[in-house]
Amino acid sequence: MQFSDIEIHPSVPREDETAWPETFVAPLATLFTVPSDWDFTDPTCRGIDFICWPTVAASSIEAYMPEQGGIPGWEDSLLVTTLKRGSLYRLPLAEDGRSLRGPMERYFQSENRFRDTAISPDRQSIYVATDPGGLAEKLGGGTTTRMQDPGAILVFTYAAGAADQQGGTPAASLPAPTVTGGGGWPWFTAEQAGRGKAAYDANCVSCHGPGLMSATYGTPLAGPYFDRRWRGKGVAALHAHIHDRMPPSRPASLPDQTYADLVAYVLEVNGVAPGEVELPPTRALLEAMTIPPAKD
Ligand code: HEC
Repeated sequence: MQFSDIEIHPSVPREDETAWPETFVAPLATLFTVPSDWDFTDPTCRGIDFICWPTVAASSIEAYMPEQGGIPGWEDSLLVTTLKRGSLYRLPLAEDGRSLRGPMERYFQSENRFRDTAISPDRQSIYVATDPGGLAEKLGGGTTTRMQDPGAILVFTYAAGAADQQGGTPAASLPAPTVTGGGGWPWFTAEQAGRGKAAYDANCVSCHGPGLMSATYGTPLAGPYFDRRWRGKGVAALHAHIHDRMPPSRPASLPDQTYADLVAYVLEVNGVAPGEVELPPTRALLEAMTIPPAKD
């Protein structure tokens, strides 16, 4: 079975929402529900449509309920960070806390994955932790792997009259140790590398050998040879070599997804740690990734 973001495999059990027998409690708000006929494909997202979907991938929730003081207009709000949209949503609560008293507001828009927030004791500053890397929406639409502030704690401090508008700017940003060289290390999932191994065993093992270390009919694809040849180079170059030349008798004959899976497997065998997001088969995205140096 091939995973797809768009098509539900016929073997997956389905049930109408109306079949749910429990009492339905409507949420305070959603970020963001779409009509049933929504088109989930978006060419500007170049194959990773989920980043362009209207859901924001909410990642944390914080109650902003200062006893006194605080940012004017922000009292009794929920602050929600998003991984896809590099921003903070503020949901102003009605008095009984069971609905919103007004529309949600969006702040601090950036090309980042916002992971969590904390509020300073004087309630005037909002701290935001960002992911070291991954995928996020570009400000101009589409997706990016280059995080604006990878692995950082951003501090947004209220300045009377300014911070209450959209797009407040960080008063100061204190980057944590740089783990990603600007978000450019490759990512893939363990499951994907597993698929890559299966494809490798079917199409490559006869020449490159088990463990990627045989040099009988092909070069080694791991160890010191790989270190010398590929580390520090772009993932796109490795992908291109495999896609455009392998297997030698029928280059570019495997599905695009399979070539991405093979790259994931080669990276995993060479000690790159898998993460949460699959390596995309899209070259433009692979261009932004560099094969990291060997760990000692
Ligand atoms: C018939 C034998 C054969 C098969 C099958 C084969 N390769 Fe190769 N591979 C080679 C040879 C020979 C080279 C060196 C010449 C070249 O780079 O084109 C090579 C080179 C490579 C390189 C570049 C290595 C380097 O650092 O120079 C990569 C990566 C690679 N193969 C991956 C794969 C993958 C992945 C598959 C399976 C889809 C595969 N190969 C299937 C023979 C093979």
